[in-house]
Amino acid sequence: MIYLDNAATSYPKPPEVLRAMTGVMEKFGANPGRGGHRLALQAGRVVERCREAAAELLGVRSPERVIFTRCCTESLNLAICGMLRPGDEVVCSHGEHNAVMRVLARLVSRDGVSVRVLQPGADGLLQPETLRAALTPRTRLAILCHASNVTGVVQPVAALGAVCRAAGVPLLVDAAQTAGTLDVTLDALNADMIAMPGHKGLLGPHGTGLLALREGVDPEPLLVGGTGSMSESVLQPSLLPDRYESGTLNLPGIAGLLAGLIFVRRFRREIAAQEAALNERLRERLAEAPGVRVLGDAAAPRVAVTSVVPVRGDSGDLADALDRSGVAVRAGLHCAPAIHAWLGTLESGAVRFSPGAFTTGREVDDACALVQRLTQ
Ligand SMILES: Cc1ncc(COP(=O)(O)O)c(C=O)c1O
Repeated sequence: MIYLDNAATSYPKPPEVLRAMTGVMEKFGANPGRGGHRLALQAGRVVERCREAAAELLGVRSPERVIFTRCCTESLNLAICGMLRPGDEVVCSHGEHNAVMRVLARLVSRDGVSVRVLQPGADGLLQPETLRAALTPRTRLAILCHASNVTGVVQPVAALGAVCRAAGVPLLVDAAQTAGTLDVTLDALNADMIAMPGHKGLLGPHGTGLLALREGVDPEPLLVGGTGSMSESVLQPSLLPDRYESGTLNLPGIAGLLAGLIFVRRFRREIAAQEAALNERLRERLAEAPGVRVLGDAAAPRVAVTSVVPVRGDSGDLADALDRSGVAVRAGLHCAPAIHAWLGTLESGAVRFSPGAFTTGREVDDACALVQRLTQ
C-alpha cells in the first residue's frame, strides 16, 4: 500500500517509536506521578523527558508549560474553552478545522460568544491589515491555522501574531500540519498558545497531543480531578502541569512520542526538505493529469499537502478507486468546510494527497500515474 494520508496521521512511525512503547509496557508500566515506588518514578521520568524534549522543540522555556493531551482537538478545546468567557469576541481564519469551528459554534450558542472569520486574499494568504481591522476592544482571542489541511498553504503567522501582540490579544496557533517540519516555536510565531498532535509530524503514536503555553497565559482547565498531587484538597491544584493533567497519562503514547521527538530533532531539516520536494513533484505530476484540478495558489508557501478535484465524477469515487489500486488518500471535506466554501469545493469535496517522512519519489510517481489512468 502507498500511504499518502500523513495529514491524518503519519505512517509508518520510526521503529524507535514502536520499541519505546513496548519497552515501557514491558519494563515499568506503572502509573507516572501516582506513588513513590521505583516503577512509578521510572514511568514519571519518561513523561518528564518527553515534556523536556517537546519544550526544547517548541521554544518553551519552562517545560511544565507543555501540557499532554490526547490529540490536537483536545489541545484546541482546552485553549479555546479555557480562555473565552460569555460575551467575548474571537477572530479566526477561514482555514480552521472543525476542531476549532465546532468548539466556537458551541460557545456562540451557549455563551453568546461572537466569531469573526477572516477572509484571505486571492492567494489564500491572510493579510495583517485584515486581522488588524477585525480586532476590537472585546476581542479576547485570535485563532490561526498555521497550514491548511486542505491546500497545505502556510499562513504568515509571525506577522499576524505581531498584530495580535500589538493589540494585546492572545494568539492560539493550530500547528496540526506544521509541528515537526516548520519552525513551530512560541517566539517564531509570536504565539501565546500552540496546539498540536503528537501523532502527525512529531511521529508519535495515536492518542497523543500537546499544548504549549506562554508564561502568564493560563486558560481554565478542561478536566479536573486526580493529579497525584495535593490530594488533601478538593480544589484543582494551580501547579503546572498538574492543573491541566487530571487522570492517568498515556504512558506508552508519551514514551513513543519521546522517541518521535528525538527522531524529529535529529532529522527535521532532511524530513522537511524531502517532503517539500515530494510535494512539488506531486503537484507537478497531478497538474499534468487533465482529469483533475489542483487546488490552491501555486506560488503560496506550503507544507506537504495537495488536494485535487476530479473534473468528472466524484472525489469519493476517485479515492475508492485509488484505494482498490493500493493508494491510501483522503476524500471529502477533511473536517474543514470553511476553506472548501472559500475554494468553491463544498459540493465536490476533494481528494487529498499528503506524503510524509518515509514516502519515496517512486511512490509519488506511481500514485500520480494511477490518477492519470483513473481519470482519463
Ligand atoms: C488543521 C487541523 N487541526 C486540527 C486537527 C485535529 O487533530 P487531531 O486528530 O489530533 O485531533 C487536524 C487533523 O486532521 C488538522 O488537520
